[in-house]
Amino acid sequence: MFTQRKVYCEDVSATPEIEWAHLRELARDATTRSYAPYSHVRVGAGALTSSGATVVGSNIENASYGLTLCAECSLVSDLIRTDGGRLVAVAIVAGDGDVIAPCGRCRQVLYEHGGGELLLDAGEGLEPTTLAQLLPGAFGPEDLGIRRTP
Ligand code: THU
Repeated sequence: MFTQRKVYCEDVSATPEIEWAHLRELARDATTRSYAPYSHVRVGAGALTSSGATVVGSNIENASYGLTLCAECSLVSDLIRTDGGRLVAVAIVAGDGDVIAPCGRCRQVLYEHGGGELLLDAGEGLEPTTLAQLLPGAFGPEDLGIRRTP
């Protein structure tokens, strides 16, 4: 009984409070600084990191289309440039203010910095999803060491 309670307490203290509305607001604000002259789809992302800091990102398009950087890419750039911790919770929104799912490539980019336990905003009043749900059986950094040909 005591052990169970102790484990429960440790788990709670290890989980930072996630203010989803705040992350969503950061993401919405980031959409106003996106560069999307081609698709006209502005995207912003806001995330909580393992140290309690927040990081943001906006999509940055390119005339060669394929070189477009998604909001999640610039979010990860902000993470590495500033805090450098792990991503804990991410909210991604479009210019209309609604929550959107990360594209396939960005799921992989986010996986590197948050793992399968990373929480993704599903919208106001909805249960967040884990990245493992969106990217099951992911290939990650740990695979490199064991798949290398000697
Ligand atoms: N976009 C993102 O920024 N993140 C996603 O996860 C989905 C797509 C951007 C890329 C492009 O600038 C625009 O949305 C339309 O695809």
